[in-house]
Amino acid sequence: MKRPRTLAEPFKIKMVEPLRIATPDYRSKALEKAHYNPFLLHSDDVYIDLLTDSGTSAMSDHQWAAMMIGDESYAGSHSWEHLEKIVKELTGMPYVLPTHQGRAAERILYGILGGKNKVFISNTHFDTTRANIEFTGAQAFDCISDESLNHEIELPFKGNMDVKQAREIILKYGAEKISAVILTVTNNSAGGQPVSMENAMEVRALCNEFGILFVIDGCRIAENSYFIKHREKSYREKACIDIAREMLDLADGFVMSAKKDGLANIGGLLVLRDKTLAGKCTNLLIISEGFTTYGGLTGRDMEAIAVGLEEIFDEDYLHYRIKSTEYLGRHLHEKGVPLIRPYGGHAIYINAKELYPHIPVEQFPGQALVCNLYVQGGIRCVEVGSVMFGKYDENSKLIPAKSELVRLAIPRRVYTQSHIEYVIDVFDDILEQRTSAKGVKIVYEPPFLRHFTAKFSEV
Ligand code: F0G
Repeated sequence: MKRPRTLAEPFKIKMVEPLRIATPDYRSKALEKAHYNPFLLHSDDVYIDLLTDSGTSAMSDHQWAAMMIGDESYAGSHSWEHLEKIVKELTGMPYVLPTHQGRAAERILYGILGGKNKVFISNTHFDTTRANIEFTGAQAFDCISDESLNHEIELPFKGNMDVKQAREIILKYGAEKISAVILTVTNNSAGGQPVSMENAMEVRALCNEFGILFVIDGCRIAENSYFIKHREKSYREKACIDIAREMLDLADGFVMSAKKDGLANIGGLLVLRDKTLAGKCTNLLIISEGFTTYGGLTGRDMEAIAVGLEEIFDEDYLHYRIKSTEYLGRHLHEKGVPLIRPYGGHAIYINAKELYPHIPVEQFPGQALVCNLYVQGGIRCVEVGSVMFGKYDENSKLIPAKSELVRLAIPRRVYTQSHIEYVIDVFDDILEQRTSAKGVKIVYEPPFLRHFTAKFSEV
C-alpha cells in the first residue's frame, strides 16, 4: 500500500552544528551535578534541546546575508529603517519602538500603564507579562473558559479570551481602573492554543464599549494566523500575512518578542497607534534600552528581525511548522502519552500527573518526567506545573498549580524529522518505566521564579 508522502522540511542544511551523544550513565551523573534541574545543565550535554522556542531559531542564508550589511550607526541606521518599514507594513501602526527582547517592551508599556489600583485583563498573561504588571503594583486577571482548560476537549480555539469573564472584571473594578486588555496569540501558558479572529473582534468590541486599550502580545502571531486560516471559516483563501494584518488592525498596541516568530535570536518590539502613549514610552525606551533607532539592538540584529518577519509568513514554512509539531503530538498520543489536545503551535504539553499517577504533586511529577527524558534520551524540556507555579500556604504546605505539565517546545527550523522520530522513540522507554519513576523534592529554592535555579534531590 502506498503510504502518505512525508512532509519534509522546506529548507536544506548549509551549516551544521555537531551534537554530542552521551550515554545514559554520563547523563545521569550530569543531572545529579545539575541538582536534577535541567536549567543548570551545560547545553553541550544536551542532545535535543526542547527547553524553549525562544531565541533558538536557525536563521536563513538571507538573514545571515542581511546581517553583513547591518548599519551600526547610533542614530538613523538604515537597518532600523528597514525594520521599521516591515513592522509598519505588518501592523499598520505608526509608532515602532525596538527593544532588546519581549519583556523589555512589556516593562516599558506596562510600567507606564500600570501602578497601584490598576487592573489588566488577558486570555492568559505569560509569566514575564504578569511579573512586569504585578511589579508596578497592578493586578493581572486571566480570563479563560473552563472548557479551554480541559485538556481532553478538542476545540479549535482554546486560546480564546472568555469575554464574559472579562466583562465581569471590568464591571467589578470600573472601566477607568482597567489599564489594558491583552490578547496573547497564541496562548503560550494555556498550551500554545490559538485565538480566533472572531474572539479578537469580540475583544475589540468590549474595549470600544468601555474605552479600554487593546494590546496584542503577538510573538507567535504567524503560527496563530495559520490556525485561523485552517480552522475559521472565511479565512481559507487568505494569506497568513493578511490574516495577521487583519488581527493587528483591531488592536491599539502590539508587543512582540522577536525571538519567536521574528525568527531571530534576540529582539523585541513595542508598536503603538497613540502618539501621546508612544511619546511616554519613547522616553522610557531612551532611558533604559537605547536611542529610538536601535533600542538595545545592534544594526545586524534589526536586519535579522526584518528579514525574519517576512520569512515567517511563508505559507510552506508555516504548514511544515504546525504540521511537524502536530506530528510529534499525534505520535505521542498514539503511544498513549497523555497530553493537551489539540496540539499547540510551538509546543506539545504532556500531562505528567496522568503519566505518573503514583507520584504525588508534592514530589513534582512534571520535574520527574523532565529528569527522566534527559537521562533516557538527552532531551531537555521544562516543567510547567507546581515547580513553576506552586505556592505555599501559611503552614508551608504546597498549594499545587492547576496542572502538572511538561512542555516540549520546538525551536524553529532547527531539528529534522529524524530528531523528532528519535524523541518519539524515547517515549517508549519512558512508558515502559513509568511505574518505577520516582519523584523529587526541593532542597533549595530562591524567592522568585524558582524553576530556573531551584535544586532538587531524588525521593
Ligand atoms: N510573551 C509571551 C507570550 C512569551 O511566550 C514570551 C516568552 C514573552 C512574552 C517574553 O519575551 O523572552 O523575549 O522577553 N516566552 C519564552 C518561552 C521565554 O520559553 O515561552 P522575551
